[in-house]
Amino acid sequence: MNRFSATKPAGGRSVDEITGSRRLRRMRKTPWSRRLVQENKLTADDLIWPIFVIDGENRREPIAAMPGVFRLSLDMAVKEAEHAASLGIPAIATFPYVDMALRDDTGSHILDPDNIINRASRAIKAAVPEIGIITDGALDPFTSHGHDGILRGGIIVNDETVEQVAAAAVIQAASGADIIAPSDMMDGRIGAIRDALDVNGFQDVAIMSYATKFASAFYGPYREAVGTAGLLKGDKKTYYIDHANSDEALREAEQDLLEGADMLMVKPGLPYLDIIRRIKDEFSVPTFAYQVSGEYAMIKAAGANGWIDEERAMLESLLCLKRAGCDGILTYFAPRVAEILRG
Ligand code: PBG
Repeated sequence: MNRFSATKPAGGRSVDEITGSRRLRRMRKTPWSRRLVQENKLTADDLIWPIFVIDGENRREPIAAMPGVFRLSLDMAVKEAEHAASLGIPAIATFPYVDMALRDDTGSHILDPDNIINRASRAIKAAVPEIGIITDGALDPFTSHGHDGILRGGIIVNDETVEQVAAAAVIQAASGADIIAPSDMMDGRIGAIRDALDVNGFQDVAIMSYATKFASAFYGPYREAVGTAGLLKGDKKTYYIDHANSDEALREAEQDLLEGADMLMVKPGLPYLDIIRRIKDEFSVPTFAYQVSGEYAMIKAAGANGWIDEERAMLESLLCLKRAGCDGILTYFAPRVAEILRG
């Protein structure tokens, strides 16, 4: 019996009569009981940190739409990777800023073993062997038009792009990447990358598929970060998934698993919690979300205005991604979160 309320609200039944004495607030009563029944936890083990790398030395270029995120020259990137490893962050994902002079219609610079991504892998692997390195196979940072594939006659050509992405994956693996994470959404890329890695002796290099990557407005700040914002004409709707669709996302996930993906990713994160849950329930495979640049920017902007508590919103959004079914999350907040979690 609740000692404070034997009354009957609105003259009807008492609360005990309504709930049958079931009171879900009992376990919420104290911090210790809340801790005891907490179902999900966020730890440093859940974090993958995406970083942007750029040529030069001692460079830390701010990205306007992503306060607190920088394009890093390799010396700086190595330092940050060391810091991330010391915080217990398992892996980083690298994205390049490529000068316009090195970009072309086919993104051919992705095949250069000495491009900034491959040099970053070698430098980080040598200095911080304990951190996992994830590289993207998509062409967008390397193309003059900012699309993820080879553009011919206004069409992103699938099979030719797949060939190039698979070749790039082999070079990335040879440079030290532990996980290849292709974000281009071409059909057949996972199988082609798996074949190419295996034929070249990289059976142990894993594939994290950006399996369900949606055509989304939330990628805006990233495009500033990698320098494609002003280049991109049109949209990516002929290769990314329509954000109205969920069954289609499941078919993409299934297909990538059949082709050999070791892990799946949902991107963006927070607006797609239903997709994460469906994938986890359906396939029971390691499932990740990418809390993308626009999600980061929203939390930062509202926080900076004092409209939300930035730190709490950050932690809540990440824990909710775990609750939805994520095994891990790519997030620009990774080092800050790891620092907070360390206490
Ligand atoms: C493209 C790519 C995108 C992101 C990473 N690689 C999307 C895009 O530019 O269309 C987005 C990452 C983010 O927004 O944080 N292959």
